[in-house]
Amino acid sequence: MRPRRASDTRAVRRVARRTWRATYARIAPAALVATVLRRGYAHEALLRTLLDAARDAFVVEAGGEVVGYADAVLRTAAEAEVTRLYVRPDRQGAGLGRALLLACLSAARRRGAARVVLGVDRDNRRAVAWYRRQGFAPVGTDVFEAGGASRPLVRLARDLADAPGPASSPGAPVSRR
Ligand SMILES: CC(C)(COP(=O)(O)OP(=O)(O)OC[C@H]1O[C@@H](n2cnc3c(N)ncnc32)[C@H](O)[C@@H]1OP(=O)(O)O)[C@@H](O)C(=O)NCCC(=O)NCCS
Repeated sequence: MRPRRASDTRAVRRVARRTWRATYARIAPAALVATVLRRGYAHEALLRTLLDAARDAFVVEAGGEVVGYADAVLRTAAEAEVTRLYVRPDRQGAGLGRALLLACLSAARRRGAARVVLGVDRDNRRAVAWYRRQGFAPVGTDVFEAGGASRPLVRLARDLADAPGPASSPGAPVSRR
C-alpha cells in the first residue's frame, strides 16, 4: 500500500480496464464503461487527480505489480468522498480492498473529516454488501452519467469518529498484512 504516483498511470489504467469490464459488463451500458475508461483513466486525467490538493490517492501492489487503487477527496471541511476503489478480479477477496479503504478512511480523518461518503451502482450488489460490512449505511440515491448513458447509484456513508470497524482506531495500520 502506498500513495499513487505519476509513474503508476499505465498500471492503474490496466487494472481499471480489467476490473471495470468484469464488474460492469452485465450492469452498465457498454458506452458508459468505454467512456469512463477512455476519459476518467486517460493519462492526463489521472495526472490531474494527483495535482488535486484535496485528494489522497493510493495503489496496492501484489506480486510486484499494481493490482488495485483508490482515491478519496475532501468535499467539505467535515466530509470526504471515496471516489474510486478497485481491486483486479483475480486479487479480490484477499483483504486488499479493505486495506485500500482503510488508507482512504485514515487519510480522510487526517484531513479532519468526520464522515466519509461514496456512491455505488445500485446493481453492483457485491460492492454494496461489502461496503455495508465495512460500516457504511445507505443515505440516499444519485445518478451517474457518462457516454450518453446513466446508472442509478446508492449513496452510502459512515462516520469516522465512533463507528466500529476499520476506522475505529486512529493511526491503525492501513493494511492487515
Ligand atoms: C469491492 C472491492 C473493492 C472489495 O475489495 P476486495 O479486495 O475484494 O475485498 P476484501 O478482500 O478486502 O474483503 C473481502 C472479504 O475477504 C476477507 N479476507 C479474505 N482474505 C483476507 C485477508 N488476507 N486479509 C483481510 N481480509 C481478508 C475480508 O475479511 C472480507 O470479508 P468481508 O467481506 O466479510 O468484510 C473489490 O471486490 C472490487 O474491486 N470489486 C469490483 C469493483 C467494485 O465494485 N468497486 C467498488 C465500486 S465503488
